[in-house]
Amino acid sequence: MTGRHTVRMVAGGPIMVEGPVRIEMPDGAVVESDRFLVAICACKRSKTFPLCDTSHRRRARAVE
Ligand code: FES
Repeated sequence: MTGRHTVRMVAGGPIMVEGPVRIEMPDGAVVESDRFLVAICACKRSKTFPLCDTSHRRRARAVE
């Protein structure tokens, strides 16, 4: 590998990684993205996990 890639951790959000990326999951599945910048879910609420679908933005309803 040449050069360095920037990985940026967003507070309360995803981990932004310069793409393209190949993500190897614990079960052996592989997820690939050719995007220039890939948002990897860090909250585990994404319906497209391991990719972020912005579900981290949804706030839990306040209990009244
Ligand atoms: S970080 Fe965005 S959905 Fe999990």
